[in-house]
Amino acid sequence: MVAGTAILSAMAKGWFITFEGGEGTGKSTQLRLLNDWLRALGHRTVHSREPGGTPVAEAVRAILLDPALEPDGLSEIFLLEAARHDHVERVVRPAMAAGAVVLCDRFTDSSLVYQGLVRGLGWDEVETLNHLATGGLAPDLTIVLDMDPEVALARAHTRNSEGTARENRLDDEPAEFHRRVREGFLELAEREPDRVRVIAADGPPEKVFARIHPVLPEALR
Ligand SMILES: Nc1ncnc2c1ncn2[C@@H]1O[C@H](COP(=O)(O)OP(=O)(O)O)[C@@H](O)[C@H]1O
Ligand SMILES: [Mg+2]
Repeated sequence: MVAGTAILSAMAKGWFITFEGGEGTGKSTQLRLLNDWLRALGHRTVHSREPGGTPVAEAVRAILLDPALEPDGLSEIFLLEAARHDHVERVVRPAMAAGAVVLCDRFTDSSLVYQGLVRGLGWDEVETLNHLATGGLAPDLTIVLDMDPEVALARAHTRNSEGTARENRLDDEPAEFHRRVREGFLELAEREPDRVRVIAADGPPEKVFARIHPVLPEALR
């Protein structure tokens, strides 16, 4: 609880923490664990996701997940950025201004890696669009969950077969796609080492979380 006390005082203003990484690496799972942990320490948190988090953005999410609609790469990035802008303006900024810790499942870095790098729209081009959509708001801390994509995908497939609907279209991509996604997130962490922390995502959820929470006091000084 000593570390927790330090975090509490450090978080007098709002913070913005994002989770990134490939499918099945445990982003949603770890975000829930961090959310519970911060709440137990007395923080107000807002748990959100991209694309999503507002009615407009959830409607965009439904478009992106609809297998009958296949927007091309450029249409896809504009849809994502439209959802992002709405989410930042209506959820993230107000919550931070009110002193909450905003936890978001995927954010601008997913667009950089998936659309910019892997789909080939260009890193700088997507960075420009991200900046327009967010008005320059960047996360205070980004946790990249990193592990062998084949093992991560096996997790995601288990999740999808247990759940009611598939979470997205990425699970169906070939192994090479997921390998490039992993490399893209590692490259991102090299470019922005202060903001982006790579956490090994193998092992049981509690073990992974034990690697995550010690990063907060140091990263959010
Ligand atoms: N550390 C872990 N070890 C084993 N299974 C995990 C672990 N973390 C999450 N899972 C399970 O793997 C699946 C994918 O995890 P999830 O958190 O949804 O990943 P993501 O949000 O990154 O796609 C879920 O069924 C989840 O319960
Ligand atoms: Mg998830």
